[in-house]
Amino acid sequence: MHPSFLRVLQQKQRVKQKLSNIRQKIGVYSAKGGVGKTTIAINLAYALSKKGFKVGLLDADIDCPNVTMFLGIEEKKMEPVLPLKPLDINGVKVASTAMLVDELKRPIIWRGPIVTKMLGDFFENTEWGNLDYLILDLPPGSSDAPLTIMQVLELSGFIIVTNPQRIAGLNATRAGLMAKRMSAPVLGIVENMSNGEPSRSTKDVAEKLDTEIIGTIKREEKFANLGDNGKIPVLEDNEIAYIFNKIIEKLSG
Ligand SMILES: Nc1ncnc2c1ncn2[C@@H]1O[C@H](COP(=O)(O)OP(=O)(O)O)[C@@H](O)[C@H]1O
Ligand SMILES: [Mg+2]
Repeated sequence: MHPSFLRVLQQKQRVKQKLSNIRQKIGVYSAKGGVGKTTIAINLAYALSKKGFKVGLLDADIDCPNVTMFLGIEEKKMEPVLPLKPLDINGVKVASTAMLVDELKRPIIWRGPIVTKMLGDFFENTEWGNLDYLILDLPPGSSDAPLTIMQVLELSGFIIVTNPQRIAGLNATRAGLMAKRMSAPVLGIVENMSNGEPSRSTKDVAEKLDTEIIGTIKREEKFANLGDNGKIPVLEDNEIAYIFNKIIEKLSG
């Protein structure tokens, strides 16, 4: 057996053990940046928490760990002791590599093998305890970082995010096909920055991935304003809470 293959298997086993008290691990994913993955991951996590579920939120986008900014907790750090403990932010357990790095403003430039090692170590050493849901804000693309996460974490399923444009749709399809190849189901598509009705392109994504559109979220200035000010939209705005509650209903079945 190739030594690196053995290492991945061993690490996978250790991470599995670590995450064995989490009922569902859901990745929010798209191959494209800027479509709203972080926004949707955060709002889903808080909508689930408001329903009474025990929820964790993992910022797995290590190049652009934006979760702490959206939550207005850029200054907060995890205690640098093992195991790492996610921070309780308004009832949701949150962990991000940004909570380990002091100089947030410095760009994080890591090559493939370091990314793989760093992510594996991070997952293996973070203690979540019992959770109903762990929501993962995944990095865009289909190279090292998202691939490592999918290999090591064995997600329960993916939510694929797209926007009405064809270019987003093409990348969403790519992301969904990759997720399927990693043997995790695509739970549904969310069209963000929507005009109201899902576009032709979004319907096409759902068809190609053999799944449903589980939500459409309109493009609205208030998302950007709340996000910029570290405010969680589902906790601030009833209309937004309603949209995410609908998505949760579709998720649970
Ligand atoms: N429905 C929406 N309407 C308006 N702005 C949005 C919406 N969803 C997200 N945004 C904004 O678009 C930008 C990109 O969203 P983000 O969640 O960071 O995307 P990603 O994580 O996919 O890169 C952010 O500034 C965010 O506040
Ligand atoms: Mg993001």
